[in-house]
Amino acid sequence: MEMEPILLLCLSLLAHGAEPACREARFTGTVLPLMRVQQLVLPPTTHSPPPNRLRFRHDVSLTVPVAVGAPPQNVTMVLDTGSELSWLRCNGSRVPSTPPPQAPAAFNGSASSTYAAAHCSSPECQWRGRDLPVPPFCAGPPSNSCRVSLSYADASSADGILAADTFLLGGAPPVRALFGCVTSYSSATATNSSDSEAATGLLGMNRGSLSFVTQTATLRFAYCIAPGDGPGLLVLGGDGAALAPQLNYTPLIQISRPLPYFDRVAYSVQLEGIRVGAALLPIPKSVLAPDHTGAGQTMVDSGTQFTFLLADAYAPLKGEFLNQTSALLAPLGESDFVFQGAFDACFRASEARVAAASQMLPEVGLVLRGAEVAVGGEKLLYRVPGERRGEGGAEAVWCLTFGNSDMAGMSAYVIGHHHQQNVWVEYDLQNGRVGFAPARCDLATATQRLRARA
Ligand SMILES: *[C@@H]1O[C@H](CO)[C@@H](O)[C@H](O)[C@H]1NC(C)=O
Ligand SMILES: *[C@@H]1O[C@H](CO)[C@@H](O)[C@H](O)[C@H]1NC(C)=O
Ligand SMILES: *[C@@H]1O[C@H](CO)[C@@H](O)[C@H](O)[C@H]1NC(C)=O
Ligand SMILES: *[C@@H]1O[C@H](CO)[C@@H](O)[C@H](O)[C@H]1NC(C)=O
Ligand SMILES: *[C@@H]1O[C@H](CO)[C@@H](O)[C@H](O)[C@H]1NC(C)=O
Repeated sequence: MEMEPILLLCLSLLAHGAEPACREARFTGTVLPLMRVQQLVLPPTTHSPPPNRLRFRHDVSLTVPVAVGAPPQNVTMVLDTGSELSWLRCNGSRVPSTPPPQAPAAFNGSASSTYAAAHCSSPECQWRGRDLPVPPFCAGPPSNSCRVSLSYADASSADGILAADTFLLGGAPPVRALFGCVTSYSSATATNSSDSEAATGLLGMNRGSLSFVTQTATLRFAYCIAPGDGPGLLVLGGDGAALAPQLNYTPLIQISRPLPYFDRVAYSVQLEGIRVGAALLPIPKSVLAPDHTGAGQTMVDSGTQFTFLLADAYAPLKGEFLNQTSALLAPLGESDFVFQGAFDACFRASEARVAAASQMLPEVGLVLRGAEVAVGGEKLLYRVPGERRGEGGAEAVWCLTFGNSDMAGMSAYVIGHHHQQNVWVEYDLQNGRVGFAPARCDLATATQRLRARA
């Protein structure tokens, strides 16, 4: 007799009403709760050396609970499909100001019997990933540790060493993986409150050789991001096909030779068009595809909050959206107002007005080869914190949740996690594709249990 893991997954598809439909499947992977957390300053992850490719910082991150080392230490890590090397704040990490009481404890390698620093003569220390603006280097004797140094667009930086330990995710067997053990972190823009970090580290999930996915030979993972503060799901490994709803797949794009602005280890898909309501925007295909420098790729990224479009696609979207909503919402009408340096399609309206209008707003569809990411209702607008207009501050400022990549200094299209809420997103590495299906992620639950097989 053999015990075999069984997963019972209850998932309600938007198309089929609110009653969750449950399915049970033999499943060798693992399921974790996925949280959306407010994250004031987590060092934004770097994507690549060219300065104009640094990713935009995010305010809200997706996190998963992980246990690291032996005995296991509980940490919270940001799930980032746009990054390669995972990292943890380690015991010696200095945060520029007193950490707030809710800040999670750092990981203490000294307290873990399975922890080992990588030696600087090890092959891993020869790694030349896009994540690090400077290659790893040898700390010299006596430690001979492999030092990694991360620096970010906002002039913050993190330094540490390459190390390995065991990671426990959900009920899965422990897996050993390399990560950056960050021992010092400094931020040029540090203020007292903005240093709070809701996570101990980051789980690098892209397709690079040192990502967590590659190191653990994960062939498939999926997530369902709940709106609001409730937990969604991360499903790692296993045969997701047995569990997943009916997905529409889009192939991952590969390029044969390196191009300076093309991130070859990102989850890159082909954008074929953008629609607002029924109107397909008149955007030339060449604007939606990578050019001879690699600029213009489209990435599916769980580590970026909002969605960014290159200026030549953003401008028609903004025009058409303003046009189609002119009877519903008043434009802000302040030509110099830009939220987070990239969002300038903004409106002024009371909360009640937006609540009433949101169901009438035209859906924005990112049309991919074989699939579509459709954004409608409340996901279209973001209330800018602290901005009030009108008499007695009756109106808030709202911006369209699509930003201008060029204004943010990026040269790619990025589909952020805000627009992946209530979507089942599957990364099928074995078949080189990403699948999407609308879902009610707040109703998604999973229980893993063992069933005896005769
Ligand atoms: C870590 O988390 C697990 C599961 O939530 C819990 O049972 C355990 O007590 C925690 N360990 C520590 C040291 O906090
Ligand atoms: C942190 O952990 C490292 C690696 O185990 C150890 O060498 C170092 O002394 C520790 N530092 C502190 C401040 O505890
Ligand atoms: C890390 O663990 C070691 C060994 O258990 C302990 O001596 C040290 O005080 C811990 N460091 C921190 C910062 O908690
Ligand atoms: C700390 O934060 C408060 C409120 O955000 C601000 O007024 C104050 O100037 C900050 N202090 C420092 C030293 O940054
Ligand atoms: C808005 O749409 C109308 C009707 O389709 C069109 O005539 C007008 O030119 C559009 N305005 C802008 C600014 O695109």
